[in-house]
Amino acid sequence: MSPEADWAARWRSLVEGGRGAAFLAADAGGDRFARMADRFGRGFTGEDPLLPMLLPLARGRTVIDVGAGVGRYTLPLAEVAREVVAVEPSPAMRAHLEPAAARHGNIRVVPAPFAQADLQPADLVLCVHVVHFVPDAPAFIRRAGDLARETVAFAIRHDAMLGGFGDLWTKYRGDAAPTQPRFPDLYNLLLAMGHTPDVSFYHRRYGGRFASAAEARERAQAMLGAEITEAEAEALAAREPRPLREALVWWRKAGTA
Ligand SMILES: C[S@@+](CC[C@H](N)C(=O)[O-])C[C@H]1O[C@@H](n2cnc3c(N)ncnc32)[C@H](O)[C@@H]1O
Repeated sequence: MSPEADWAARWRSLVEGGRGAAFLAADAGGDRFARMADRFGRGFTGEDPLLPMLLPLARGRTVIDVGAGVGRYTLPLAEVAREVVAVEPSPAMRAHLEPAAARHGNIRVVPAPFAQADLQPADLVLCVHVVHFVPDAPAFIRRAGDLARETVAFAIRHDAMLGGFGDLWTKYRGDAAPTQPRFPDLYNLLLAMGHTPDVSFYHRRYGGRFASAAEARERAQAMLGAEITEAEAEALAAREPRPLREALVWWRKAGTA
């Protein structure tokens, strides 16, 4: 296999067998991002560590925000960009995104997965915490590169986000908790595809994903297929936010400054 095919195959196996798949599979119903949309729709607290790096890339430019979610970046970037096209396939995410986007004159929401979205080229193609859900990463990356006139930028976690489930997975499932594709997987895939991107690391605090011990127990049951103890459920619900390292990975198109 070529280096690209090797990294692409590893990527696919991480997406299809990874923890993201376990979490998303636990979200019953047609929209696998519905539960995440509820959480994101409640809002984000504190200063966003990534936004200051994105604002200069978007200022005065046209932007495609792939997998815009509830608009965490679409909305602030629209304050400085000429136009933001928010690509978002999840109806539950769009239920939050669309009313907020309508309050801006320069946001267009495209309700489709990136591969099927009808898009014109833009200066910046941005993709924050999305590509680790996508089995065919090379096709996704190529499309981003084809649509970008100036800059392609991906944000992805470096540290595994096990959310307190790492030890529980091993206890109840007997093996190491599966992880999603992370920064090293993306960077090596990009190198194999002929890109030499810049990288900036930053930290984001994660935690407090369960409103109660009962909710934590219900999610653990869906994910692990096992009943965790009351103490374990309480520990999950009481988990303090903690910082994980993430990376902004970006490259300029040839011929742009
Ligand atoms: C973790 S959320 C991130 C949302 C937003 N970028 C943010 O950082 O707040 C992942 C988003 O990617 C979207 N998504 C998943 N697969 C996608 C695809 N193939 N094309 C476009 N968006 C996708 C999901 O619907 C979801 O809204």
